[in-house]
Amino acid sequence: MANKTLLITALLCSCTFARAETDARQLVELPEMMQTHMMSNMRDHLQAINEIITYLADGNLDKAAVIAEQRLGMSSLDEHGASHMAGFMPEGMRNAGTEMHKAASRFALKAEEGELLPAYAMLKEITAACVACHAHYRIR
Ligand code: HEC
Repeated sequence: MANKTLLITALLCSCTFARAETDARQLVELPEMMQTHMMSNMRDHLQAINEIITYLADGNLDKAAVIAEQRLGMSSLDEHGASHMAGFMPEGMRNAGTEMHKAASRFALKAEEGELLPAYAMLKEITAACVACHAHYRIR
């Protein structure tokens, strides 16, 4: 019995180590308050993407455009305290953030044109920016 427990513990430990070794993301240290703020922004980003997809599925491109511009696009920068946070980020991370905001504003303009497929093609440029930043950086 004790042996089994030991074996399981050993397996769990090696898994944890293996994961840590393959995590090559750069750690970006932010003051605690800023971490909390950023993670809350992130959860809103995901929610916004979900709302955009839902509006697209309903054929409501105007609403999708408004959500994209206001919650993710260039218009969202002030509300997110972006200029303040940018100072703490390495250049690559800042660029990924800028790319996401620009992609969201481009999507909004495209969606306003009212054609579903071209709008959809622009949507993936937003999510590509989410993925690019997540692949390279972590804050904890
Ligand atoms: C400029 C970089 C960057 C961009 C762009 C970005 N994120 Fe993040 N996001 C992060 C980092 C860094 C974390 C924290 C990861 C960690 O420390 O493990 C994070 C965490 C998250 C989390 C977890 C929140 C939590 O409370 O656990 C979600 C959800 C998320 N991001 C969604 C998104 C979505 C959706 C987009 C695109 C619309 C996006 N992010 C764009 C950098 C970014």
